[in-house]
Amino acid sequence: QLSPLDEAEAFAPSNIALCKYWGKRDAELNLPINNSLSVSLGHLGTRTRLQRSPDGRDRVWLNGIEQDSSGDFAAKLLAFIELFRAGRVLPVHVHTENNIPTAAGLASSASGFAALTLALDKWLQLALEPTVLSAFARLGSGSACRSLFDGFVEWQDGIHDDGMDSHGVPLEARWPGLQIGLVKVATGEKAVGSRAGMQRTLETAHLYQSWPLQAAADLEKLHRAIETRDFALLGQTAEQNALSMHATMIASWPPLLYWQPESVAAMQRVWQLREQGLALYFTMDAGPNLKLLFEARDRAAVEQAFAGLEVVAPFGD
Ligand code: PMV
Repeated sequence: QLSPLDEAEAFAPSNIALCKYWGKRDAELNLPINNSLSVSLGHLGTRTRLQRSPDGRDRVWLNGIEQDSSGDFAAKLLAFIELFRAGRVLPVHVHTENNIPTAAGLASSASGFAALTLALDKWLQLALEPTVLSAFARLGSGSACRSLFDGFVEWQDGIHDDGMDSHGVPLEARWPGLQIGLVKVATGEKAVGSRAGMQRTLETAHLYQSWPLQAAADLEKLHRAIETRDFALLGQTAEQNALSMHATMIASWPPLLYWQPESVAAMQRVWQLREQGLALYFTMDAGPNLKLLFEARDRAAVEQAFAGLEVVAPFGD
C-alpha cells in the first residue's frame, strides 16, 4: 500500500573512494567483489525533488532542463523508480539538481541515485532504515550506496545473494581539516563507463586476481589511518590503491587507460611537491581527473601549485 505525498525532496552528497570499488560478483545487483571506503563531499552533491505528476506522465528534468524520456539519463532514473512503484500507476515528475561544479569533472551518479532513493522514501512515506535505503541506492549505481551517509563510509560487500547486507556503513570518526582538491583534466563523457570497464578488467586482466588482496590490505590501513589521524598513511594508502586499480585497467584487453597526458603531468607535480616536503597525495577514478588529498594547513601551498583548484572540506575547515 503506497500513499505518495504531493511532493518530496532530498539531498545526498557526492563521495570519493579512498579504497576503490572495482569489480562485481553480481552485475545485476551491483554486488562488489571487495569492500570499499569513501569520504562524502558535504554540501557537494545532488538535490532531487519528486512531484506527483500533474499531467499523468513521467517526466525528468536535470538542472532545469527537461530530458528526453527515452534517453539514457531519464530511462535509468525511471527504471530505478519502477523498483519502488512495482507496477503501480504513480506517474511522477523528477527534478534533479547537481551542485557539483560541472567543471570539476566529478561523477554525479552516486549522489544522484542516493538522493533519488531518499526522495522516493519520503515521497512514498516508506520510512525505511538508512542501511536498507543504501542497499536500494546500490542498485542504481554501486558507489551510490556510500552517498547515503556523511563522512567516512565503508561499503561492506555482504555475503547474501539478495544483496540486502551489501550497503554503506558510516564510520564514527571525523577528520576536521581534511581537504580534497579537484583537478580538472577533462570533463567530457568517458569512452568506457565503470560498468563496462569493470567487466572488461574482470574478464581479461590476470592482474585483477591480486586486486581483492590489495583492497583488503588497504582497507585495514585506512581504518588505522583514520583511527590514529595518520595523514601520511591515509594519503599513501589511497594513492597506491588508486594506482593499483588503474594497473588492472591498463592490463585489460583492449587496454583501458583513463589517463590523459595532463593526468600524468599532475601526478608528477604531486610527486615533486611531496619530494619537497608537502604532504600531498592523489586518488583517481575511472576518468582522467585527479582528486588531491591534503590537510588544511597546506591548502595555500597546494592552491598555489594547482591553479583553479576546487577545494572541498568534507568535515569543515
Ligand atoms: O558506482 P559506479 O558503478 O559508478 O563505480 C564507481 C567506480 C569507481 O569510481 C572507479 C570507484 C569507486 O569506488 O567509486
